[in-house]
Amino acid sequence: MFSKKTVEDIDVTGKTVLVRVDYNVPLDSEGNVTDNTRIKLSLPTLNYLLKKNAKIVLMSHLGRPKDTVEDKYRLTPAAKELEKLIGRPVKKFNEIFSQEIKEYIKNSMKSGDIVMLENLRFNAGEKKNVKEFASELASLADIYVDDAFGAAHRAHASIVGVAEFLPAVSGLLLKKEVEALGELLENPKRPFIAVLGGSKVSDKILVISNLLSKVDSLLLGGGMTYTFLKAQGYEIGRSICEDDQLQYALDMIELAKKNKVKLMLPVDIKVAPEYAENAEKKNVSLKEIPADWEGMGIGEKTTRLYKEEIAKAKTIFWNGPMDVFEFDRFASGTKEIANAIAGSDAITVVGGGDTLAAIKKYGLNDKFTHVSSGGGASMEFLEGKVLPGISALQDK
Ligand code: 3PG
Repeated sequence: MFSKKTVEDIDVTGKTVLVRVDYNVPLDSEGNVTDNTRIKLSLPTLNYLLKKNAKIVLMSHLGRPKDTVEDKYRLTPAAKELEKLIGRPVKKFNEIFSQEIKEYIKNSMKSGDIVMLENLRFNAGEKKNVKEFASELASLADIYVDDAFGAAHRAHASIVGVAEFLPAVSGLLLKKEVEALGELLENPKRPFIAVLGGSKVSDKILVISNLLSKVDSLLLGGGMTYTFLKAQGYEIGRSICEDDQLQYALDMIELAKKNKVKLMLPVDIKVAPEYAENAEKKNVSLKEIPADWEGMGIGEKTTRLYKEEIAKAKTIFWNGPMDVFEFDRFASGTKEIANAIAGSDAITVVGGGDTLAAIKKYGLNDKFTHVSSGGGASMEFLEGKVLPGISALQDK
């Protein structure tokens, strides 16, 4: 099923291995990692390499610095967090390349040592996939392992460039992600339902169209639904709406009919006179949305209907909140849907930054078959795109 070679398919014993991880993790104002999930998820690959007495050279990006050094985007906090999790020293360098780094790796590293290079995006060569930059990175090691699923949709030097210079294989996280998400597209147990939320239709255009040829039911929630409701002629008050997507919404409703997919949209919504934590709340039918109020998420009846549909599923994919779950007063849709999916016996796959924040908020992190570490990457994968970070690796 996964057609690429992995770290288990080649001899890494005693070798120097350049590992691309996605340690693009949130930091607080003091520079502490506030969510170490992505670092934890890299441990199986790193521990495998340590068991094989490899020397590990880690590289990652963090944030979106402007092709130059920005102290707040240094990888030092991620290195410290990894030290805690892996229980051994991680030597963090403050540059990506230097003579010192080269000599250290060549002459001083021993089996089981781990070093980490500085944020790759401090150099313009990373995003532009400059050949010389990739070849410098590759010159540090014998083998390249890509375990950065979260960045697999980026054709950057550390993701596709280095693969031209070294034997390039997948890490265990990347493989697990592709298998879990691939199963949804290729061989889902049916009924297969997708639950999509979030504020913008435009972010989900390709994923909605692609999933409409795969799923049995598609349940839509969150801010994007007001565009669908307006397209069908409802007055949506001051709710968020993308007028340039109205025709697209109608096209998707038609496509669902044509493909015999049950497309479920809200039948009622929660509304508020203003977008605020303690704003007044009303649950209204679609015909009762007050002109000067705005939608805050799916209503009680919709939540019930969605939960009934979820209960029938054998495979569920969920991405995007159902309401303004950041405000507890308006969070019932996201909370109930999250709990319904978490409690289901179906194969459950969730992904996306806001969705992960929601499951964390409700303490449900370990209640799903697979929680994807990729936001943009998992969306592009489900859009049916070939991700450059995967195609760059050696075939089995
Ligand atoms: C992510 O957080 O989705 C990945 O690390 C990719 O980051 P990017 O969108 O800045 O490329």
